[in-house]
Order: sequence, then C-alpha cells, then structure tokens
Amino acid sequence: MRILVVGSGGREHALCRTFKNSAKAAKIFCADGNAGIAQIAECVAIKPHEIERLAEFAAENQIDLTFVGGETSLALGIVDEFEKRNLKIIGVNQQAARLEASKSFAKDFMARHRIPTAEYRTADSPREAIEILESGKFGDENSPVVVKADGLAAGKGVIVAENRRQAAQAINDLENLVGKEAVEKIVLEECLIGREVSLLMFADGDNFALMPPVRDHKRIFENDEGANTGGMGTITGAELLSVAELAKIIEEVIKPTLEGCRAENFPFRGILFLGLMMTKTGAKVLEYNVRFGDPETQAILVRLQTDLVEICEAMLNQTLDKINIEWQTGSSACVVLASKGYPNKPETGDIIRGLDADFADVNVFHAGTAKDADENFITVGGRVLGITGNGENLDEALEKAYRAVSKISWNGMQFRRDIGRTN
Ligand code: AMP
Ligand code: GLY
Repeated sequence: MRILVVGSGGREHALCRTFKNSAKAAKIFCADGNAGIAQIAECVAIKPHEIERLAEFAAENQIDLTFVGGETSLALGIVDEFEKRNLKIIGVNQQAARLEASKSFAKDFMARHRIPTAEYRTADSPREAIEILESGKFGDENSPVVVKADGLAAGKGVIVAENRRQAAQAINDLENLVGKEAVEKIVLEECLIGREVSLLMFADGDNFALMPPVRDHKRIFENDEGANTGGMGTITGAELLSVAELAKIIEEVIKPTLEGCRAENFPFRGILFLGLMMTKTGAKVLEYNVRFGDPETQAILVRLQTDLVEICEAMLNQTLDKINIEWQTGSSACVVLASKGYPNKPETGDIIRGLDADFADVNVFHAGTAKDADENFITVGGRVLGITGNGENLDEALEKAYRAVSKISWNGMQFRRDIGRTN
C-alpha cells in the first residue's frame, strides 16, 4: 500500500513512523515533511494548503491512502477534493472542519446540542465585543474573561484575560496578532477553572474509538509561566481521567457531538479532539479540533499496538465497531525541544548535536529540522524535536524521555523539565 501523509511536523513524523510499522504499508510519502521524516518516507515539495496539487499527486502516484495531519488542509476542503476524485483519504470534510475553523460555529453547535461548555457571546466587531464586556455579562471589571478570535490562528487566537482591562486590550490587539480574517468575529467566554485534559478518538461517521487521554503543557516556561505555545510536552495515562469521568464525557459530550454532526448532515469521519476543562460541575468543552494534536500524537501513537492502516480501513468502511484497537498499558511522555526565542521569534539555523547517540528506548520525532550542506541536522523552526518515551508508568516514561533529552543540544535549546509534573 502506498500512503501519503500531509504535513511537516512532529505529528506527521509520528504518523509516518506508525505507518512504516504497518504490515500493509509498502511506501510512505510525506508532503512536505522534514529531515527526520526524510529518513523513513519520500518527501514531496507540496504544501498543505495546495490541495489540488496534493490530489493530483495522489492520483498520479497511485496513492492508496492519504492521511491529513493539520487543520489547514481540512478547512480548505482537501477531503471533499479527494473524494470528488475517488481518492481515499482520512480526515473530516470542510463542513465538519468548521468545528475547529470557526469558534463561533463550534459554540453555537454546542448550544444547539446542549453540550457542556463555557458561557459565551459572539461579537461582530471589536467595538461590539467591548460593549458586551461593559454590559457586565462576564462579571465586573475584576472578573477574568476569555477572548477568542473566531478563525484559525495557529494557537495565538486565545487570550485568558485576568480582568476587563486586559480583555479590552486583548480585543484591541487581536487583529494585529492573528490577522483580519480570523477576527471577523470575536468570541467572549466565561473563564472556566479546573484541570485540563484532552481526549481524542477515531470516528467513522457512525462509530468512535477512543485513544488514551492526554494532557499537554502549553506554556513555554516551567510552572506554566510565559507565553502560550503549540505545546511543550504531553503525557498520556489512564490516571488522567477516572472511569466515571470518562463514562460521563461519553454520554454528555461525545455522543451528542457525533449525533449533532449527523443531524446537521456532516457525519464526522476523521479524528475528533476534545479539549476539556474538568470543572467542579463536570467536564466542559474548551474547544474542538478536527485532527490529531501536535505534540499529543507523538505520545499517543507510541502506545498504539493495532496496525494504523487497519484502523484507517475501518474508518473508511464504517466498521470501527468491528475492530479491537489495542494500546500498550501504562503511560507515555513527549518532551519538546524548541529553538531559542520560541514562541515569539524562533532563531533557526543552529546545528543540532547528539542525534547520533543511542536512542533505542525512545522515539526521536523531528519537527523543525533540515540538513545543511554538510549533512548536519539543523534547526529550521520553533519546535524542533519531540523526544517520546513510554513505560509501565509515567515515571518510567519521563525517565526515558529526559535521559534521551540530555544527549541532545544546540545553541539556545529550550525545554521544560516539569512535563507531567505540573498543571
Ligand atoms: P483553545 O484553543 O480554545 O483550546 O484555548 C487555548 C487554551 O486557552 C486552552 O487550552 C485553555 O488553557 C485556555 N482556555 C480556553 N477557553 C477557556 C475558558 N473558557 N476558560 C479558561 N481557559 C480557557
Ligand atoms: N497541541 C495542541 C494542538 O495540536 O492543537
């Protein structure tokens, strides 16, 4: 089987690696990949937004299965384009992608289907957003409130403001931060308090199959300080959600979400990612993503024991209920190594030292890497590597990951030493 993975980050490296381990995969292609992916797949110079070129490539190269990593291609309708040409692809169609591509659409959807989430209001302009704030809907001037750009904003579109003054500032800064298109609407939300956890699943339009719960660490610095990033590390483990919590989430969130998609004529076929806040009154949805997370995927896939191609076939045939997806018991941890200056102004071009060490008991997933003229691995992005270990328990997974991290270095390399240890 010839497989195409779309994307170029650590998530896509983990996907390529998992497909490579499949008994059914003959050749893996990745558009457009990175230097780590190039070791196991043929990288193709087509970007995720070039959906017609991707479809042409898949048709011309007899690709049997395409797997989409990120939201950009999904929101542009890559799945609709491939299906029009009878090409097999895993991901949601453009309609379902609105659950991630428009926060106001997602909030209205949750309201229509009574899915627990933060109270919200949508504004059509910054002025209206300020008016809503001043109306007292979200408490007085000392109350925290969350400001969100409606559209895709690569993780930069959410500001958790401590008070009304900060919220107003965020509203005024939003356009500069994320661009005009993403702020045609602004969503204001009640600030929820609790423990965050994410839950991903495979979905085939009718059935779903859960992955292990996962938690990411979004802030750049230890103790959850500093700017938000795409994610500095993730852990998985059953202890993240109790059996009772999980059962409640299935009834109150997952079933109504998938039934809601069916009722609105966009059955959800792809990867559904729930960002949840475990509040005193139960789990509430912070966001939907319609794809695998990065770096959630790295920690999740190292535990997958079932052949990913078989899972994809079941998603395409709507037979997810017929297969038993197995996960290695225990835990896993992914520690992200980032460039100096990330996330604001990543410095790139540094030679990465230590990649030739023995990494037999971990997975070194590449994100922003390339090779220079002398065949050295160099940094070319903000997040550079994701060192991923698994084990019987979290301690063992973290120990393996951090032991491997200590072998790698470059000028200004940043990472958090407290992955899995703080909130
Ligand atoms: P999102 O992209 O919507 O998941 O938001 C990014 C991050 O902002 C989340 O992981 C939370 O840490 C935080 N966040 C988003 N919405 C809320 C909310 N209503 N209350 C508190 N924190 C939030
Ligand atoms: N790590 C968060 C995301 O992929 O959206």
